[in-house]
Amino acid sequence: MGHLLTRTQIQRLVAKHGREVIEHRHMQIERCCYQHGNVTTFEHSVRVACLAVWMADRAHLWYRVDLKSLIRAALLHDYFLYDWHDWDNGEHQWHGFTHGHAALVNALKDFKLNDIERNSIENHMFPMTPVPPRYIEGYLVTLADKCSATAETFSFDRFNKRALPAAKPYAEIEARR
Ligand SMILES: [Fe+2]
Ligand SMILES: [Fe+2]
Repeated sequence: MGHLLTRTQIQRLVAKHGREVIEHRHMQIERCCYQHGNVTTFEHSVRVACLAVWMADRAHLWYRVDLKSLIRAALLHDYFLYDWHDWDNGEHQWHGFTHGHAALVNALKDFKLNDIERNSIENHMFPMTPVPPRYIEGYLVTLADKCSATAETFSFDRFNKRALPAAKPYAEIEARR
């Protein structure tokens, strides 16, 4: 990749390398849950993937970043598959600290992941959680996540929340297969 990537090229790369993740039926759950402001967890994950690729590109990191692992880790970093705004009697009280691990556990059930992907998903909440990512891809996901989350949380669009279809619980989706 000798030239700088355009927005369209980045979106195409994410669609190509992230296809298996994007098309998985459990992604339906992410499409039904708001993450920050009026952005669903699915939209947030795609944004993080695009931003992480943009950052790697602009920082000229392609000689040491695995593009496919970066995209898949970014798309799966919030694969915790519940709406964290539903407090569930306090079960998700520690969401900020635990959801990286929850996302990894879910992702391992649905996908074959390499070590870069696993480590980057599990430690994406660093420095809120104590263990730093082991790979540069993990730092890119962490940084892109923080930037996206901040922009989404403070966007004026957050006041325009549309009603989302009710998220089908994991078990129900499994039962219909
Ligand atoms: Fe997260
Ligand atoms: Fe996130």
